[in-house]
Amino acid sequence: MELGRVHQALKLFPRILSYRNWTSSFKRRMFVTTTVSQQQLKPNRDSILKQEVLRFNPKTPVESAVTPPSSWFTSTEFHELECETIFNKHWLFVGRRDAVQNPTEYFTGLIGNNPFIVLRDTNNELRAFFNVCRHHAMQVINDLEGKLDSEQLQCPYHGWTYALDGRLTKATRLRGIQNFSARNFGLKPMGVKTWGPLVLVNPFSESEDCNFFDDIMPLKESLDALGFSSGLRFVERKSYIMKCNWKVFVDNYLDGGYHVEIAHKDLGSALNLKSYETNVHDWHSVQRVSGLDNEDRVSGTAIYAHIFPNFMINRYGPWLDNNTVLPLGHDKCQVIFDYFLEEKFVKGLGEDEIKKFIQESFIASDKVQQEDIFLCEGVQRGLSSAAYDIGRYAPKVEHADHAFHVRLAEIYRNHLNIRDA
Ligand code: FES
Ligand SMILES: [Fe+2]
Repeated sequence: MELGRVHQALKLFPRILSYRNWTSSFKRRMFVTTTVSQQQLKPNRDSILKQEVLRFNPKTPVESAVTPPSSWFTSTEFHELECETIFNKHWLFVGRRDAVQNPTEYFTGLIGNNPFIVLRDTNNELRAFFNVCRHHAMQVINDLEGKLDSEQLQCPYHGWTYALDGRLTKATRLRGIQNFSARNFGLKPMGVKTWGPLVLVNPFSESEDCNFFDDIMPLKESLDALGFSSGLRFVERKSYIMKCNWKVFVDNYLDGGYHVEIAHKDLGSALNLKSYETNVHDWHSVQRVSGLDNEDRVSGTAIYAHIFPNFMINRYGPWLDNNTVLPLGHDKCQVIFDYFLEEKFVKGLGEDEIKKFIQESFIASDKVQQEDIFLCEGVQRGLSSAAYDIGRYAPKVEHADHAFHVRLAEIYRNHLNIRDA
């Protein structure tokens, strides 16, 4: 099929295949029929995905590269591909270690299509599970975070109960059931580990990915020098829903400050934009820019670090904030901000002063976020337009964007068995 037609087909695909959403809601009841349908549809989907993936060559240098085609950002098929590859098979930052400091503390969330729970068990061991009951798939824990009332997890639907190590310990009214062993019906575990004050999970792998952790360790060391692993106090979590693909948000973050002068005039006037520099590594990139000395909120050197795929750490003035961008479909995402302040900064100010400082900082930070929402949602509408398909990079500033796309392309190619171009 010629590429223009493939592109059109992808734009129509959500409608053509909306029937698949219908099948998934009947998955358990019509298991056989659904399985056959998916087997029939997948090769079709993969062959269209392959052609769109091939349109971005990861070997082309940034100076002559074109950006990935808009289908990467606008089709449900790429969203599915990313749930299968990026959000199922990588280490992902999902929360704060201090939220699961003590036995029976937990937090929950959703990555790709997978609800998860992270908890500390009664032996002080950190654990992560798919937050999916093995009976009929209800989410076992439905609050975002807290402390369990007891040392077990009870599903709110029919009461199946699990120990904090995931074992199924109670399931009533199963008299007459055959070919069933409780041993095989524990909560499914995920890989879990900590990195400084943060918790990561990996849905389908418990193994260490040495390359990933070796690559990001120097970033931890430079953040530690600024009090990353200790000396910070958690202040507040804020969350935004955005009508754009999650990668549009990442692209906006990684453009080397290109949009700051035009789109964030207040922030831009507090920064020395000429000092902007970007360093790209295998699994992360770091942008640095110095703040003007008369600006408390952003004084000193600001560090904006992106860790593949969806996590950002911003260190500026006395602040550290983490952003996690989570896909909620092909054209919708959630961005979660966790804000921390330097302990010594807090202690140096009176209660009213610190309240005022936090309030003013949140107003400034929310303004920047609203400006980015305006940009990202506008880009998403443009990407869906028939007028746009591919764009170009400003090579000296947008090389972190390019590196992000190269990493995605390599993962897609690998998953779809595409050999070297
Ligand atoms: S779905 Fe959990 S007990 Fe039935
Ligand atoms: Fe921005």
